[in-house]
Amino acid sequence: MPVVTCIEDLRSLAKKRVARAVFEYVDGGSYAECTLRANRADLDSLALRQRVGIDVEHRSLRTTMVGQEVRMPVALAPVGLTGLNWADGEMLAARAAERFGVPFTLSTMSICSIEDVASALTRPFWFQLYVMRDRGFSASLIERAKAAGCSALVLTLDLQVQGQRHRDLKNGLTVPPRLTLATMLDVMSKPGWTLNVLRGKRKSFGNLEGQIPDARNLTTLSHWIAGQFDPTLSWKDIEWVKRLWGGKLILKGILDAEDAKIAAQSGADAIVVSNHGGRQLDSTISSIRALPEIAQAVGGKIEIWFDGGIRSGQDVLKALALGARATLVGRAFAYGLGAMGEAGVTRALEIIEKELDVTMALCGLHDVAEADRSILRPA
Ligand code: GLV
Repeated sequence: MPVVTCIEDLRSLAKKRVARAVFEYVDGGSYAECTLRANRADLDSLALRQRVGIDVEHRSLRTTMVGQEVRMPVALAPVGLTGLNWADGEMLAARAAERFGVPFTLSTMSICSIEDVASALTRPFWFQLYVMRDRGFSASLIERAKAAGCSALVLTLDLQVQGQRHRDLKNGLTVPPRLTLATMLDVMSKPGWTLNVLRGKRKSFGNLEGQIPDARNLTTLSHWIAGQFDPTLSWKDIEWVKRLWGGKLILKGILDAEDAKIAAQSGADAIVVSNHGGRQLDSTISSIRALPEIAQAVGGKIEIWFDGGIRSGQDVLKALALGARATLVGRAFAYGLGAMGEAGVTRALEIIEKELDVTMALCGLHDVAEADRSILRPA
């Protein structure tokens, strides 16, 4: 068993084990991937202040996210096709998160269904919603999330139209999927992954099966989905979602202070400062650069969360320093899942927790709530 000391190790293992089309779906971004790179580069460019002579024996990473206690300020982000990284991947990742003590968010575009994930857990999880043109279908997803006892709804706002991901097109991970010779050779060269995924409960979008005509046919289903992302989505629809849902609501994909102000007035409980992991609008600013102005605009009015490029506990602490209450990690846990299944997700969380804890200590902090701009060196 290789020694795994950091998220990059999990990424390397996942790259070796998982079919390229699936690995690159997770790893890649849209167009020239400028924003994907900026998310990482801008986090790396921030410098923490090393402090000494402070007793840091007692430290706490605990906090709350929309009132829910969490072991550290990290939740698992919604990641489409998670269950193609490892059979039943959403159930495994959700269980790892539950045992660890952080929230798991199930994507609308998951392989396991809402009900599958509920059956694997003893506590509530979160559900991510895309508002579809078929509002009846969106309403039915909300009802199913309620029936499954989900304790928060994460509404994604930055995918009204889909950004193009060159890697997915080249790998045949298209709508509908395209089987090329290269894809077949790739799958054949990853027999461990292939056998594992074939053993999984489902091979298609679990939340959509049985809901639309001919949903077992992945091609028909994919066509349906592609036509369903709703470009008309507007702030008025958020009212509608809020009424139907009636519980904790998180708005994901806010990158601009003006939008953040509207979101803060919308009655939602939290926003996620996010550019969809560099997978949508390319050449927009990194999430970490957007964070301070958003925190300044709406800090104190609504919980501010952050995602976009987090690969370490140091990254989590930098986001907290610039005004986030908590963070979401997507790729970091998906690499763990692709590398080692449930154990890999747990490992990813342990790595981030340990790094966050040690980094806090070396910055002279006792509690995640103390993190603010004073722990960063001026630019
Ligand atoms: C879906 O949310 C994706 O980014 O692929």
